[in-house]
Amino acid sequence: MTAITDGLGRGIDYLRISITDRCNLRCLYCMPAEGVKAKRHDEILSFEEIERLVGIVAQMGIKHIRLTGGEPLVRPGVVDLVRMIAHTPGVESVALTTNGLLLPKLGPALAEAGLSRVNISLDTLNPEQYQVITRIGSVQDALDGVEAALACGFDPVKINTVVVRQLNQDLYRLARLSIGKPLHVRFIEYMPVGVSAGPDGLGWSAEDTVPSEEVLAQINAQAQAAGEPQLTPVRDKDPHSPTGWGPARYYRFEGALGTVGFISALSNHFCSTCNRIRLTADGKVRPCLFSDQEFDIRTALATGTDQEVRAVIAETLAAKPESHHDRVGTERRMSQIGG
Ligand code: GTP
Ligand code: 5AD
Ligand code: SF4
Repeated sequence: MTAITDGLGRGIDYLRISITDRCNLRCLYCMPAEGVKAKRHDEILSFEEIERLVGIVAQMGIKHIRLTGGEPLVRPGVVDLVRMIAHTPGVESVALTTNGLLLPKLGPALAEAGLSRVNISLDTLNPEQYQVITRIGSVQDALDGVEAALACGFDPVKINTVVVRQLNQDLYRLARLSIGKPLHVRFIEYMPVGVSAGPDGLGWSAEDTVPSEEVLAQINAQAQAAGEPQLTPVRDKDPHSPTGWGPARYYRFEGALGTVGFISALSNHFCSTCNRIRLTADGKVRPCLFSDQEFDIRTALATGTDQEVRAVIAETLAAKPESHHDRVGTERRMSQIGG
């Protein structure tokens, strides 16, 4: 097996696959209230096409696959897809980013099929606020999903919290989820892409991005006021450090079973260590989350040779930009890219 690098010499070993643009929630920053016009089944890649692509890129050097959405668990047959990917020679791990609602139902079968790592979106613990953010969701269902993920033995289980200034979330309470359970709570700088930047946006803008340093300071101030331990950095080799292929930096409350992470796409570019490319549900490979440049791989998967499929991947790698250069706004919404 070879290792692959992009045009700038960065090692690329991670593919994020959005398997559907549908979702059972309607998060404010991700989708309009009426949802996005879902692609027809014949517009999205079939599992056979995804299977073929994974086989080819695994031979090229992709080791890690993450399934994203929309909400990946709403696509029928997702358990079989996980099993197929997990058994592909060269694939070392299969991960999932989900809102968690279907984990009580599907978690055990996914674990048995070979899923190992789960990231769950949870922006607040407040029931009213959860309903406002997701428009239709119940926070208890998400929390049941988190419990199911732990019970299924997924490791690590990470919580993704997108921090938006005007939402004024209770971040200390969320961070404290990491104390009694092996949960890794990550605070993500809100990225004003897609819907928020579009004409039907919510008025959220770059001002709603709260820099990670500010979130860290706020949590530590609250911990201090409560006479509780503060967050201290987790060193890379620390046994408490959750493994990941992503850009989060981790901290920990003394004695906690889990950690608190920060994903700072805007305040602290991690583009120089970017290790990933993305596949959309309708069969486009994207060199960068923030770029609207896409390469059609669906045609090659449907009718082309393996060599033609590899050529599209090579083109994508060569086009990976050095950095997102603070560009905000993409033509596609987050739910259509998979984050
Ligand atoms: P781990 O391997 O568990 O660290 O996963 P991850 O953090 O890469 O994936 P996840 O799907 O949980 O995404 C968490 C956040 O990171 C989301 O807000 C994503 O949009 C963001 N993210 C993931 N990859 C990139 C990237 O390449 N660039 C930027 N700017 N943000 C990214
Ligand atoms: N900025 C940052 N993160 C986002 N996500 C969705 N939209 C945004 C945004 N605008 C996160 C979701 C999910 C992950 C795939 O991306 O919360 O956890
Ligand atoms: Fe669905 Fe995730 Fe988008 Fe929320 S952020 S609407 S859960 S895809």
